[in-house]
Amino acid sequence: MSSPAPLRSVADLALRGRRVFLRADLNVPLHEGRVADVARIAASRPTLDHIRQQGGRVVLASHLGRPRGQRRPELSLRPIAEILELPLAPGCTGAEVEAQVAGLADGEALLLENLRFHPGEEANDPDFAAALARLCDVYINDAFGTAHRAHASTAGLAALCSEVGAGFLLAREIEVLTRVRDQPAPPFVCILGGAKVSDKLAVLDALSRRADAIVIGGAMAYTFLRARGESVGASLVEPDQIELAQRILEGGTELVLPVDHVVAKNINDAAGAETVTEIPDDKMALDIGPASVERIRERLAGAATIFWNGPLGLFERPPFDAGTRAVAQLVAASPAYSVVGGGDSLAAVRAAGVADRISHLSTGGGAALEFLEGHSLPGIAALEGSG
Ligand code: 3PG
Repeated sequence: MSSPAPLRSVADLALRGRRVFLRADLNVPLHEGRVADVARIAASRPTLDHIRQQGGRVVLASHLGRPRGQRRPELSLRPIAEILELPLAPGCTGAEVEAQVAGLADGEALLLENLRFHPGEEANDPDFAAALARLCDVYINDAFGTAHRAHASTAGLAALCSEVGAGFLLAREIEVLTRVRDQPAPPFVCILGGAKVSDKLAVLDALSRRADAIVIGGAMAYTFLRARGESVGASLVEPDQIELAQRILEGGTELVLPVDHVVAKNINDAAGAETVTEIPDDKMALDIGPASVERIRERLAGAATIFWNGPLGLFERPPFDAGTRAVAQLVAASPAYSVVGGGDSLAAVRAAGVADRISHLSTGGGAALEFLEGHSLPGIAALEGSG
């Protein structure tokens, strides 16, 4: 893998008295209008605090959810502004916002409203990027979770700013994931879960060339079991991925698939959940069983590097969260260098109370997977050569 051009760090820029556009990923889960998990907000603070301490005037910006260019009040960044104790601008561009930014004193900050209320954001529209550029002298990207999107605030804007740099969170993610991608200490064991093989195909392919073993769980495991000729009952299977799963099975990398399953009639049938080794025709597998957890424990023993993304079962619906929680405990108990990414895996690690025993909690789900696939991410590419 060729080394990317160096990135300039926010730590190396003169910031006093300058208007600094800070693109963060504050796309946090909401529950009944409140922030349900502050992890991404907490992870964004060091760069925000640094710029303010250095006397920069911060224009903080993020997207939240997928409003698709519409102003949707339930996706306002207000709850995030309240947590950060920052004023919230009424929008992202225009005379009123420009006046608010002009009124910032050194060390002060404001938060722009949801970038995705503007259709120009996801379209990477040059006019929208130019309107954002009017708000700043310096551009800092710290939004690793959104680095795989070529949007106005992650790509177009950087090209319009004479001084650009990477925030601390982005730089750390690049450092850790580069190590996992290019020089994982062996044995390297990956754990991939989630519903769809099609979502994880590219990363499965890339990791199968580097990993000593790949543990596969979640609904996607059943496409593999079907490809191996096993009966999977009414479990979710992607028929168009079976052939490919067959090829991966024959590819030579050790795959660890579930050997027992927590099944039920459907996802609402928590009361009917039972553990089986053979899935009845009328039941679907919704979690891995204890024997599968034991197999994973055996495979993780002696691992030097572990990467985990994606739930092993229907994590959001107890009791189908048990396998994912058990794996969180196993990863935390391992002395290996461990990296965990993706919303459900992170939630499992936190719910199990073991977050502080994971070497690196990645703020990127899709972004981390694309990085490991070896793609150049637009949000990082836009900063390259700045160092
Ligand atoms: C994420 O949560 O993965 C990022 O914030 C990107 O969000 P998106 O998938 O809606 O672009």
